[in-house]
Amino acid sequence: MMKGFATKAIHGPLAKKDPHGALRMPVYDSVAFEHESAQDIHLAFAGRHPAQSYTRISNPTVEDYERRVQLLSGAQGVVAVASGMAAISNVILALAEAGTNIVTTQYLFGNTYSLFENTLRPWGLDIKYVDLSVPQRLAEAIDQDTRVVFLESITNPQLQVADLRQIAEIAHQHEVPVVVDGTVTTPYLLCCKEFGVDLEVISSSKYISGGATTIGGLILDYGSFSWRHNPKVAPWVAKFGPNALLVWLRSEVYRNMGACLSPHNATLQTLGLETLSLRIQKSCDNALALAKYLEGLTEKISRVNYPGLPSSHYHDIAQRQFKRGFGGILTFHLDSKEQCFRFMDSVRLIRRATNINDNKTLIMHPASTIYCEYSPLQQREMGVCDSLLRLSVGIEDMEDLVDDLEAALASI
Ligand SMILES: Cc1ncc(COP(=O)(O)O)c(C=O)c1O
Repeated sequence: MMKGFATKAIHGPLAKKDPHGALRMPVYDSVAFEHESAQDIHLAFAGRHPAQSYTRISNPTVEDYERRVQLLSGAQGVVAVASGMAAISNVILALAEAGTNIVTTQYLFGNTYSLFENTLRPWGLDIKYVDLSVPQRLAEAIDQDTRVVFLESITNPQLQVADLRQIAEIAHQHEVPVVVDGTVTTPYLLCCKEFGVDLEVISSSKYISGGATTIGGLILDYGSFSWRHNPKVAPWVAKFGPNALLVWLRSEVYRNMGACLSPHNATLQTLGLETLSLRIQKSCDNALALAKYLEGLTEKISRVNYPGLPSSHYHDIAQRQFKRGFGGILTFHLDSKEQCFRFMDSVRLIRRATNINDNKTLIMHPASTIYCEYSPLQQREMGVCDSLLRLSVGIEDMEDLVDDLEAALASI
């Protein structure tokens, strides 16, 4: 009966009928939950009776949000966490350990790179960086200690789109799972399952939250990877089969790291899910229109990057992989850092803020902000330079955005 994304997002049923007939899952603001008997509490702790015990491990409001994401994405299981960074760190900590490695690309969100280099490497995890737009490089880099292949669905701010199907084929030949950070695409634009992606991590602080209302993260297991190939998860497979990773995660890494999603954030993000399709579609449509407009201004703008433009190196792959649009982020080059700063100081409607996929259009100079802790050489390797500006396109009326950009360009 429910085929469409928007219908599912709005009408996905509650797991249990609410005693008052509430149409929306109430916020369960309780840290602990009571059990009828000592035996019941024992069974809950032993994972043999599905019941709530403590909100750091599970909570009815958070669980309802997870079920809705599962329904929309086709994932086999979903765990909601405190932030996008918590989703990434939980997954890596669950699958890898000292003496093993992950294979990824230099084109990563700055904090993800910092997590890999500054937090996880000192604990003994090796991180190998390869150019994933050339999948052969992946085959060369994977070895018997590789636990994860990690990449972003559209890299930010480089806007590279790798061929997920090819990457999954190579990783699976070596019995290694593919983890994709699908923050900027969400299941509305990218059906990870169709391309062989095993796990998706999402910063739901972006589109899903309703336009940057609350911090949150998601881990989605698409059920395609046989967890017996991962030595840490393998002991759980006999008991929990294809759900082994998420059951184990919830009862160990997720529980112990304590980065759970608050029930208040879960309810706001559930509300965000209901309008996700409208907002993300408008943001993608605006971004494509603005990319075309800016690409025409060749006197002042030397290059516009957007996977939806035929001039993008990644346009063909993006067309194959993304169903309804190419995301809300575009970048463009002016002459210099000084010119970028003057441009940023001249916009009146567009906000100077470090976020993406807000309802508001936001502008950033990546080199002097997110990437300022890196040397110019490292920045170049990460695809960032002084003349680059990033626009995260919101859902405003196009005419107002064009007026603002036109006025700012005229003033530099
Ligand atoms: C692609 C990507 N992944 C992960 C994150 C981290 O998300 P959060 O801020 O929710 O921890 C971000 C944040 O901007 C991001 O852009």
